[in-house]
Amino acid sequence: MRKSLVHNQKNPSSEIRNPKLEKSAIRNPQSAIVLVTGGAGFIGSNFIRYVLKKYPADIVINLDKLTYAGNLENLEGIKDNPGYRFVRGDIADRELVNRLFAEERFDLAVNFAAESHVDRSILDAAPFIEANIKGAQVLLEVARYYGVKKFLQVSTDEVYGSLGKEGLFREDSPIRPNSPYAASKAAADLLCYTYYNTYDLPVIITRSSNNYGPYQFPEKLMPLMIRNALNDKKLPIYGQGGNVRDWIYVEDNCRAIDLVLRNGRVGEVYNIGASCERVNLEIVKLILKKLDKPESLIEFIEDPRGKAHDFRYGLDSSKVQNELNWSPRYDLEEGLDKTIEWYLAHQGWLERVITGEYLDYYRKVYGSNYSITP
Ligand code: NAD
Ligand code: TYD
Repeated sequence: MRKSLVHNQKNPSSEIRNPKLEKSAIRNPQSAIVLVTGGAGFIGSNFIRYVLKKYPADIVINLDKLTYAGNLENLEGIKDNPGYRFVRGDIADRELVNRLFAEERFDLAVNFAAESHVDRSILDAAPFIEANIKGAQVLLEVARYYGVKKFLQVSTDEVYGSLGKEGLFREDSPIRPNSPYAASKAAADLLCYTYYNTYDLPVIITRSSNNYGPYQFPEKLMPLMIRNALNDKKLPIYGQGGNVRDWIYVEDNCRAIDLVLRNGRVGEVYNIGASCERVNLEIVKLILKKLDKPESLIEFIEDPRGKAHDFRYGLDSSKVQNELNWSPRYDLEEGLDKTIEWYLAHQGWLERVITGEYLDYYRKVYGSNYSITP
C-alpha cells in the first residue's frame, strides 16, 4: 500500500493523523478542504494563518518544496492546529500532485508556490520556468481532472511590465513582462486563461503589488534593508533609487485573496494594491529613520537588473474594491511599524533563514562591490 502523502519530512511527529482530519473524507458542508501551495513562504504562510483563524472548520493542506525561501518556522504555532497538514513536495511533480488530489478531493486550491525573486531570475531563469510555468500547468491539469470549486492563481503586477510617470495598471492592461520572473508568471496566467476557456476550470487570478510584512525572506527590498541596517551593514540601492513600487501590507493582500477565492467571479483577474506608491530611496530612508540609523549606510550601486528593471508599478484596484468591498486596512506608516517590530523581535529567524546559499547569491548580485557584505 502507498504511504499517505500527508506527512512532514522534517518533522515525523506530524505523521500522526488527527481525528478532525480523518473526518475530512466525510464532507462537512460548512467547511472547505483547501490546498495552499507555497505555504511555507512569505505570503503563503501569512495566508494559512489568516484562513485557519477565520475559518476554524476548514482544512488546509500546505504543499511546499521547501526551497531556500520555504521555511517551516514560518508556520510556528500552526503545525499542531488540527485543521492543518504539511506535505513536502514539488508542484511540478505530477505523480505526487495527482496522488494528493486523489487523496484529499480539494474544494479550493490557491497557488502561491513559485520562484519569486527578480534578481535570481536574471542570474538563472531555468528554475522559474520549472516552478512557475510547469508547476502551474501540472496543478491546473490535475485540478481539471479531479475538479475544484475554485482555483486561484497568485500572480503579480509585474506581468504588466513597467509604467511611465503617469497611469495605472488595470486588469485589461496588456501583458508586457520584462524580467524572466515576470515572463514566467505571465505564462502561468495565460495557462490559467486557457484552462478556463478550454476546459471550464473555475480559475481566478489575483495580481498584487509589492507585499511587505512578517516572514519575508531578506532578499527583497524591505527585509534586506531592515536586516542590513540592524547589523550596521551597507544598504545597496540599485541605480539612484528612483524606481517606484506600490506597497501593500501582506495581511491586506491575504484578506483580498481570501475574498476573491470565496466570492470572486471565475474567469476574472483582480488587481490587489493599496495605492501606496513610493520611490525606493524614500522607503530606505524611512526604514533608517525608524531604526534610528544614519543615512550614510546607504550605498548606490550599479543596477544589477539593467534593462529588466521596471521603472514603476502602480495598480488600479477599483474592481476588487467595488465588487468585493475590499479596502486596505494598513497604511505604509502602520504597516512598516508592524513589520519592523516583527523583525526586531525575530532577529534569530533572520539569521537562521540565511544559509550558505544566501551568501553565494549575495556575492553574485552585490559581489563586485565588496563594501556590500551580507
Ligand atoms: P516566497 O519566495 O517567499 O515563497 C515561495 C514558496 O514557494 C516557498 O515556500 C517555496 O519553498 C515554495 N516553492 C517554490 N517552488 C516550489 C515548487 N516547485 N513546488 C512547491 N513549492 C515551491 O514567495 P512570496 O513572496 O511569498 O510569493 C508568493 C506568491 O506571490 C508567488 O507566486 C509570487 O509570484 C506572488 N507575488 C509575490 C509578491 C511579493 O511582493 N512577494 C507580489 C505579487 C505576487
Ligand atoms: P524587490 O523587493 O526585489 O521587488 P520587485 O523587484 O519584485 O519589485 O525590489 C523592490 C525595488 O527595490 C526594486 O526597484 C529593486 C530595488 N532594490 C534595491 O534597490 N536594492 C536591493 O538590494 C533590492 C533587493 C531591491
